[in-house]
Amino acid sequence: MIWTLFLLGQAALLYFILTHRSRSKRDPPLDKGVIPWLGHALEFGKDAFKFLNRMKLKHGDIFTVRVAGRYVTVLLDPHSYDTVIKDSDSLDFNRYAQVLMEKMFNLRLPCHQPVKAKAIMKKYALIMHFMGLNLAALNRTMSRHLKASLTDEMPQNQKDWKEEGLFNFSYSLLFKAGYLTLFGGEPNNNSTEPSSVYDEYKKFDGLLTKLARGTLKPEERRTARSVRRRLWELLAPAGLAEDSGSSTWLQDYRRLLQEEGVNEEMQNKAVLMQLWATQGNVGPAAFWLLGYLLTNPEALAAVKREFSGISMMETSDTSSPDRPMDTPVFDSVLEETLRMTAAPFITREVVQEKTLHMADGQEYLLRKGDRVCLFPFNSPQMDPEIHHEPQKYKYDRFLNQDGSVKKDFYKAGRLLKYYTMPWGAGTNGCVGKQFAIDTIRQFVFMVLSNYDLELCDPNAQMPEVNTSHYGFGMLQPEGDLLVRYKPSKTN
Ligand code: HEM
Ligand SMILES: *[C@@H]1O[C@H](CO)[C@@H](O)[C@H](O)[C@H]1NC(C)=O
Ligand SMILES: *[C@@H]1O[C@H](CO)[C@@H](O)[C@H](O)[C@H]1NC(C)=O
Ligand SMILES: *[C@@H]1O[C@H](CO)[C@@H](O)[C@H](O)[C@H]1NC(C)=O
Ligand SMILES: *[C@@H]1O[C@H](CO)[C@@H](O)[C@H](O)[C@H]1NC(C)=O
Ligand SMILES: *[C@@H]1O[C@H](CO)[C@@H](O)[C@H](O)[C@H]1NC(C)=O
Repeated sequence: MIWTLFLLGQAALLYFILTHRSRSKRDPPLDKGVIPWLGHALEFGKDAFKFLNRMKLKHGDIFTVRVAGRYVTVLLDPHSYDTVIKDSDSLDFNRYAQVLMEKMFNLRLPCHQPVKAKAIMKKYALIMHFMGLNLAALNRTMSRHLKASLTDEMPQNQKDWKEEGLFNFSYSLLFKAGYLTLFGGEPNNNSTEPSSVYDEYKKFDGLLTKLARGTLKPEERRTARSVRRRLWELLAPAGLAEDSGSSTWLQDYRRLLQEEGVNEEMQNKAVLMQLWATQGNVGPAAFWLLGYLLTNPEALAAVKREFSGISMMETSDTSSPDRPMDTPVFDSVLEETLRMTAAPFITREVVQEKTLHMADGQEYLLRKGDRVCLFPFNSPQMDPEIHHEPQKYKYDRFLNQDGSVKKDFYKAGRLLKYYTMPWGAGTNGCVGKQFAIDTIRQFVFMVLSNYDLELCDPNAQMPEVNTSHYGFGMLQPEGDLLVRYKPSKTN
């Protein structure tokens, strides 16, 4: 008995020594929270935006918090972001990404470190699929699938309205069209039925944030495992054969994994991760955009006016050349939507001690083994010093008086390089950005010009944000916004 107590005492002491940390003069303000080991993990996971705002009021633009045994230094001054984003020697992206991949997708890919230059070359080859002529081809395929999915979904005649939640409407349509474009080839031709992939994916999506945080309840863990397994099976044929109808991007991705000796099972897991990266954000973004338009009649009118001046897309898959579309109003509407609803973390692991030089002249020490986290949603995106009344949707926030694109925003009297960052930044920013923008623009254009879409309740407000999604890309609503639609008379 005494022996056990002694051992316990020793263990507690050892634990204290190992985890004890006091702040030195050069460290950022330290806030460990009251709960041992866990620190602020619960509050952080529940509503990261609220929590980080509270910390910011208490400590300023930089501070270190303890989260589930790790120390995370949070930096919230956009003027200083580049010192983190551009230093890939001291601040490593891959380690934390690999932790997440393992937790969310049960995925372990070989580490590229020894052949870094080669890995970069290969990554570049993959990115090329989303640029130039390849992008134009993807664009056309996407446009064709979008049109078909919309026609499928719409009621046949012009009298009957169909009612549905706008989130489900946007997410399911864009997911199915995007899945066919990148993963599945033609419907009913050796590709898995897109709607069954969507149904399974939605279940998985609902558990992803908990998977990443390791907070699943036992029965949720069982569901997560079985849904994940089912998705691996559904995705297994995608991109295996040249004639499977999947995109050349996916075929190249599979080939690259094969060359690195990744077995077929791991390849399927990697393909699920790509499904998440390529399809997880577009639908929710389109939902918020349409929702803000429907609840802001002035914005809706402005976009419709701009679109009515452009009659191209009707025939985009046959005649019209893929000339860039000039849609400053729509672009501002999208930028404003993403400002309010895109909330990724940018996380790095400190692999060697680094002195962080802040834009205001302060210097802080980053300790090896800690993590650094930027949260652009907090600042610049929802920072009242940068964007006046940040909680308010202003469709023309990113337009100048003369109708040109507005790019000059200030903090502390200095012009900002990053005034909104929905796509991440640096080498790990979104590679599908242009494709995503083109897709959302086409979708909104098709819906507004060929269909009547309106709120079921004209006084309905936008649903609240589900606060557990902060840090995971696009936010999702709590509940949905009920809309009704039918083909329009002029169609
Ligand atoms: C509104 C829509 C989208 C948003 C807001 C968005 C945002 C992001 C962000 C913030 C990242 C960085 C993640 C990180 O740092 O770990 C990212 C990565 C990525 N995105 Fe997107 N994305 C969107 C749509 C798309 C689309 C349509 C595609 C492709 C078809 C795509 C492909 C990717 C890929 C492949 C990566 C991983 C890049 C890497 O290997 O590091 N995204 N996206
Ligand atoms: C979600 O959307 C799909 C396809 O648009 C539809 O079949 C399904 O009934 C919708 N679900 C709900 C709950 O509205
Ligand atoms: C589907 O794939 C199988 C095996 O890859 C092939 O034998 C069959 O001909 C394909 N069917 C169609 C309709 O392409
Ligand atoms: C919020 O999102 C989480 C994780 O996706 C989900 O488990 C939860 O049900 C959502 N809450 C609501 C009210 O939709
Ligand atoms: C199915 O795919 C094959 C090979 O890509 C193609 O030749 C055939 O026309 C497709 N069939 C349909 C019905 O789309
Ligand atoms: C993609 O399509 C849209 C609409 O058709 C067009 O505005 C855009 O320029 C296209 N992108 C490329 C790279 O062709």
